Order: sequence, then structure tokens, then C-alpha cells
Amino acid sequence: MSRLQIFDTTLRDGEQVPGCQLNTAEKVEVAKALERLGVDVIEAGFPISSPGDFNSVVEIAKAVRNPTICALTRAVKRDIAVAADALKLAKKPRIHTGIGTSPFHIQYKLNSTPEAVLARAVEAVQYAKSFVEDVEFYAEDAGRSENEYLAEVITAVIAAGATVVNIPDTTGYCLPHRYAERIIYLVDHVKNIDKAIISTHCHNDLGLATANTLAGVQAGARQVEVTVNGIGERAGNTALEEVIMAINSHRELDFQSAIDTRKIYETSRLVSAAMHMPVQPNKAIVGRNAFAHSSGIHQDGVLKHRENYEIIDPATVGVAESAIVLTARSGRAALKHRLKLLGFRLDKEALDQAYQAFLKLADEKKDIRDGDLHRLMGVSKVRISGQSAESTAAIKKVVPSECTMGEWRIQSMTKGRDGICKVQVEAKCKGEVYSGFAAHTDIVEAAAKAFVDALNQATSAP
Ligand code: KIV
Ligand code: ZN
Repeated sequence: MSRLQIFDTTLRDGEQVPGCQLNTAEKVEVAKALERLGVDVIEAGFPISSPGDFNSVVEIAKAVRNPTICALTRAVKRDIAVAADALKLAKKPRIHTGIGTSPFHIQYKLNSTPEAVLARAVEAVQYAKSFVEDVEFYAEDAGRSENEYLAEVITAVIAAGATVVNIPDTTGYCLPHRYAERIIYLVDHVKNIDKAIISTHCHNDLGLATANTLAGVQAGARQVEVTVNGIGERAGNTALEEVIMAINSHRELDFQSAIDTRKIYETSRLVSAAMHMPVQPNKAIVGRNAFAHSSGIHQDGVLKHRENYEIIDPATVGVAESAIVLTARSGRAALKHRLKLLGFRLDKEALDQAYQAFLKLADEKKDIRDGDLHRLMGVSKVRISGQSAESTAAIKKVVPSECTMGEWRIQSMTKGRDGICKVQVEAKCKGEVYSGFAAHTDIVEAAAKAFVDALNQATSAP
């Protein structure tokens, strides 16, 4: 089994997304999470770009000791010297330098010639090598470069000391078999290729980043450049979690990494929260719906045997359990399962009745939560100062007779189907007014809980 190096660029390419910029403390927090996740290399930033980014690289280099800490530069001496300075305290520093090698970049971006670009590439690697041993070279827009010229540049930078050669599909243009052919071409035509590791770096403009990355490693690459949740420029970079779970799910690929998959979900949520970048619900592996089943046929199948509809056990990526989402497309099996978990055991006739009522409600309400089911069954659970009550009528039994409900108001409501509603409710007991607060996705549930909260204060008052 071959070892795949996981190079995470969430804090560099990922952070280039407009609105996703992090401060140094946030970057250090994410870097520590990446270390716990088990990545081999953290690309911590582009030090010349701003004093803040420089400082982040310095602090990450101090705080994170296991992974290699990498800093990006252009093939410009000043960039390289500044990156080397930022990496001074890193235990395992790497400079990532490079230049565009496609006809587009050579002519329209650099206004240069292939010969001059090759000379700058070699010079940059040599200069970086004067600071650190580990130097990675990127051939920007390699996905649209000419193979022969690309091979010439890669041969020259390896001779100059590059330890890793990155073949980016910068514009996300390649098809998987074409990207694989490019890597195979380099394996066959770069005579010193055994002196360096080939790296993939695929963008997702055509939704092919993960497919291209996997094609690249099958063709000979041994490092993959990825981001958590696939964030990055434009349509993003290859998603770390997709590559890892693809290789773990297909033993025929014969690769292993040091990633602790059980930390994938928590890392995904940390990055999403820190960068204010929501994860799309249907995102592979880490989306809210990745392990949620809502149609009757699927729910029935998954309840009979999880693997009927799931190729990954959610626990392996740190998701507690699969979700059976109750909607108007759900069947009796799912309703019965959920009701059983809530403590209701129904015979066939009662289930039929409950199912008809459920369908009516589901047509109106899109998705049905536990509070809705309690109400559907004519039951609500409350607990007041140690006593519990299980029916609407019985609630009255545990509400002290001297108490009544006073004013109530909605304090705030967040948007969306999962929006949280915060409610304040007053309980009036023996001339005193007690305020209770509660938050819930269901406004009625929130109001009931807030009332109970107020009653608890009243009953525990001296
Ligand atoms: O997409 C790209 O080519 C890059 C390089 C700077 C590595 O991000
Ligand atoms: Zn990139």
C-alpha cells in the first residue's frame, strides 16, 4: 500500500475566498485542528501578501510541530526571502515557489518567453534552497501547459533541488483521463523524476477536482493538495474529505494516509464556522444531508440494513448517526421507528391513523420534528421541579394552581428551515412575575419550554 501525503491548503488557497479571511488566532486554531486531523503539510499562507499573513505563518510555525509548515511565494526573490523569514521557527519548513508554464500565462500574464520562464523557475528554486532543504515547485496552469515544455521545466527544477513538483490544474479545465495522461507523461519523460514527489493541485471549475486528483494519484502522484470542505478560489479546490473517503472506501486504490477520519466532521464544522462559509447540505461526506434519508423506500431499506443505502458508516467520519428525516415522502416504517424512539409503541391500526395525520401535517410543514410528533400524538413532555407530565392535560397537574401564563414575546428568530426561535414567557405566581427563556426550532415548543423555565424559577423561589 502506498503512502499518500496530504497537503492541506485551507489556510492559503481556501482563505483566498472573498469574505473567508481569518485573523491570526483563528488561523492557529484551524492549523491545530488540521494537525489533530493528521495532515502531513499545512500551507499556512503567502507571507509577502500582507503583514497579517506573514504573522499567521510565524504563529502557526510556532504552534504546530508535527506537520510540515509551508509558505507560498511567486518566483520572486523578495517573496522567497520573506517566506523564509516567516518560516524561521518552523520545525519542518517548506517553501512553495513557482511560475506559470502555460502559453496563456507565459504570453498574457508574464509577457515573457518559455526560455525566460524556465530560467526564473530554476533561479527561484535555487534561491529557496539557500534557506530551506524542502522546496516545492508549482508549474501554474500546468493543466493547460504543453507536455514537452512542462517536462523540460520539471526536469530543470528537480535538478535545481525541488523535492516536490506540483502540477496544478489551476483553472479546473482537465478531464480526469487527460490529467492522468499528463502525470504519466512526466513520469515517463522527466529523467530525474525519482528525486521528487509529484503533487496534484486540482480546482473544481467543472466539478472534476476529486476525480482529477484520484486520476493523478493512480498515474503516479504521491501528494494531494486539498482543502477542508473543498473551499478555494472560484469553484474551490479538491475536498480533503472526498479524497480520503474515496481511497478508504476503495481498497483497490491501494493508498493510505495518516488522516484520522473520525475528526473529519468536527474539522469541517470548525472551518465552516471560522470562515462563515456554510457547507452545502448535499456536500459529499460533510453535508447535513450526507447521511440523511428522507424517501420512504430508502428509509425502509436503511432501517432494515444500513448498508442498503450507505457506503460509509457515519461514525467513521465523526457523524453520530444516520438521520431519518420525516417528510411527506416518508413511509410508515420511518414514522414507526421515530415514534418508537420517542416511546410510542403503536399497533397496526393506531400506526395507520397516526400515519394519515402525519402525512397531512407533513404536506403543510415540509419536515417534521419530535415536537410535532408529540403534538400529533396529543402528548407533550414537560418537567417542572423534578415532576414530569406526559399529556397536554397532565401538564396542568404539574403547573402550580396559583400560577398562570403572562405575556410572551419572540426575542429573535434566525432564518431558514432550521432557524432558531428565542422566546420569553412570563409566569405569574402569587403576585410575582417570573421570566423564562427558551430557544427551539419550533416556536410552540420554544414557548412551552420558556413557560416551564419560568415556572421552575417560581417553584424554586424562597
Ligand atoms: O491553483 C494554483 O495553481 C495555485 C498555485 C499557486 C499552487 O494555487
Ligand atoms: Zn490553487
